[in-house]
Parts: sequence; C-alpha cells; structure tokens
Amino acid sequence: MKSKNARNGLHWIAGATLALAASVASAGTIKIGFISDYSGLNATLGPYMERGMRLYLKEHQGELPPGTRIKILVRDATGPNPDKAKELARELIVHDKVDFLAGTIFTPNALAIAPLATQAKVPFVIMNAGTAMITTRSPYIVRLSFTLWQSSYPLGKWAASNYKTAYTLVSDYGPGHDAEQAFIRAFMSGGGRVIGGVRVPLQNPDFTPYLQRVKDKHPDVLMVFVPAGKSATAVMRAFNELGLHQAGVSLIGPGDITPDEELQNMGDVALGVNTVFHYSAAATRPANEAFVAAWKKAYGENETPDFVSVGGWDGMAAIMHAIHEQNGKLRTKRTMELLSHFSEPDSPRGPIRIDPQTRDIVQNEYLREVRRVDGKLENVEIATVADQLKDPWKQFALK
Ligand code: PHB
Repeated sequence: MKSKNARNGLHWIAGATLALAASVASAGTIKIGFISDYSGLNATLGPYMERGMRLYLKEHQGELPPGTRIKILVRDATGPNPDKAKELARELIVHDKVDFLAGTIFTPNALAIAPLATQAKVPFVIMNAGTAMITTRSPYIVRLSFTLWQSSYPLGKWAASNYKTAYTLVSDYGPGHDAEQAFIRAFMSGGGRVIGGVRVPLQNPDFTPYLQRVKDKHPDVLMVFVPAGKSATAVMRAFNELGLHQAGVSLIGPGDITPDEELQNMGDVALGVNTVFHYSAAATRPANEAFVAAWKKAYGENETPDFVSVGGWDGMAAIMHAIHEQNGKLRTKRTMELLSHFSEPDSPRGPIRIDPQTRDIVQNEYLREVRRVDGKLENVEIATVADQLKDPWKQFALK
C-alpha cells in the first residue's frame, strides 16, 4: 500500500508540474513545440511537414495580431519512438513552456504525447499521425491530417465495383490495422471476397517473401498500406521485381503508397496505380496551384509538396486562427473551442473543417491514378469518391 501511495504521490507531483508549466500566460511570443522526424524510419517526411507549417506562417505572417510572434521549437522523435516523443513533449511543456504541441508523423508518438497534453492542458495539433482512435486519447487533441479509415473505406467501396477478389498487406501497427479493417469492411459489403492478408513488420521488412505469397494466391487486387516515404518505394520496387503486375495483380492503396515526392524514385512501376486520398500535388484546384507555386518559389523548382506538407500547412492555419481570434492572448479553453470549430473552405486539398464532436478533420477523398504528365509521374485526381467525409470509424462506433 505504502509504495502504491508513494507512486501516486510522485505521479501527482509530475502532473502538477506539468499543469503549472502550462498555465503561465504567454505574452508576445507564442511557442509551438513541434515534434517530427528527421532521422530513423522514413526520415524524409519530417522536413515536409515543417516546411508546410513554415510556408503558411511566412505567407500569413501579416495576419498575426500586432506585437505577436510565433516561435517554432523543432524536435526530432527519431522515427516511431514513443519513449523519445514523450521525453521531448515533457521537456517542451515543463522547460520551454510551449503554448501548443504540434506535429507527429507516427501514431505511437502521438499516443505517447496524448496523456501529457491532457495533464498539462496544452492544445496538441496533429499534422499527420492517422490511426482513427488517437483523437479519443485526449480532449486537447485536434487533428488536421486524416484517418486511414477516411481513405481506405471509400477505396474498398470503389474496389468492390472493379475487382472480385482482394488480398491485403499492411504494416503491423495502428494505421495498418485501420487501413486493413476499413478496406475489408467496405470491400466485403460491396460484394468483394478477401482471400488473404498479411501484416508485415513496421521497420525494415523484406517485402519479397510476403509478395511471393500474394503472387501464389493470385488475387485480382492487392491493397497495401505502408507509411509513406521510402517504405512506399521499397514495396513498389519489390512488387515490380516479382512481376506481380504481369501476373495480373493490380496494386491499390490509400495515397500513402504513392507519396507525391517519391513518385519519380518509384519509376514506371507506379504507373496506373489507383489510390484514394485527400491530397495530391497534381490537383488543379486554384488553392492548390497557388500552394504548389509558393512551395517551388520557397524551396526550389524541382521540389514538390505532399500530404504531410498540407498537414503542416493546415495545422498552422488552425493555430494562427486561434491566435488571431484571441488577439494573441491565449486561454486554453477558448483555444480548444476555436480549434474544434476551425474550417477552411479553400485548403489546397479542398474544403476542410473540424468536427467539434470528435475534434477530427472532415474532408473530401479523391480517387487518383498515377500517370505521366509532361514527362513526370503524378497522382492525377480522377473523381471525388467521398464528399466532406467524417472519420468512418467514429461514425460506425457512434451507431
Ligand atoms: C502513422 O503512423 O500514423 C502514419 C505514418 C505514415 C503514414 C500514415 C500514417 O503515411
């Protein structure tokens, strides 16, 4: 008993320190503790998110209340590494006294930070991590990215009207499980038959033996989720080397498997791959064309933003909205109200809004196909397959 009380006491002290740190009002400088990834698995993604966030800030700096400036404190979680993410978040709250936490490429990192955001009452703006249940882990979370259910459920519906049999291959962690479950549910309810599935390790899997099994089973279509970045290119190359396409198996997935910035590294094997996603750099919406042009101007003519960049861009838009509406004097309760009701009719990805009930994003989902346009591979948007879609996982759970 004694040791349990002692433990509880320690726990309470840690919680009180966090809460005290966060209650200090900010004057003038508003600090965002940004936790992303610059090393480890798919390290290319971190800079895309940071650049998206910084580009929004640069373009909209003039809208900040007079005397207010934003300072972004950048930290590297070194890949899916919850212990590291937690340590970084604690330090940002207690030592740096940040007004916002933001970022997180990977689900395990977001989950590790969630209880700290709750204890310290710090708004936590998620710009990528996409497992549906993350937002239920803290009332201080608002998500400006996506859920895997949002892409993979409409993908399953579309696939059911184009293919009879399917096989699934996903990374064995939260977003992979979500992509698999969402796809299977929709594909089967549309009359499709799932003839097998495999979950592969998140870190450094050798895709070849798994894909050989797929080839032996010969489904009409293979649905893949791996976290975007170099993992997507690795799976695409293995698919090519085993000749699955020639064997008559189509490759589809949520847009994570054809990230805009990796397409040129993938080469022709990506041609014709269909995906469903909320963002493509090739979209012809004027807001997207302006975004891509600003990106190229800031970062170089050969640079392309991706969905992670748009998560950073829209995440910063939500944060700046909360700052603007409070004239730079932040109160946590009001900040959460403003973030939870944020909407932007003209995001590069189309209209978006936050569902105040779940604090999760509502957005369109587009069917895309990789095509060669003016010599370059692009995710060409073909149709809007879901209009202002709420996270389907939460909708099913609510029923
Ligand atoms: C995640 O860990 O939540 C995650 C990472 C990369 C993606 C999608 C989701 O492409």
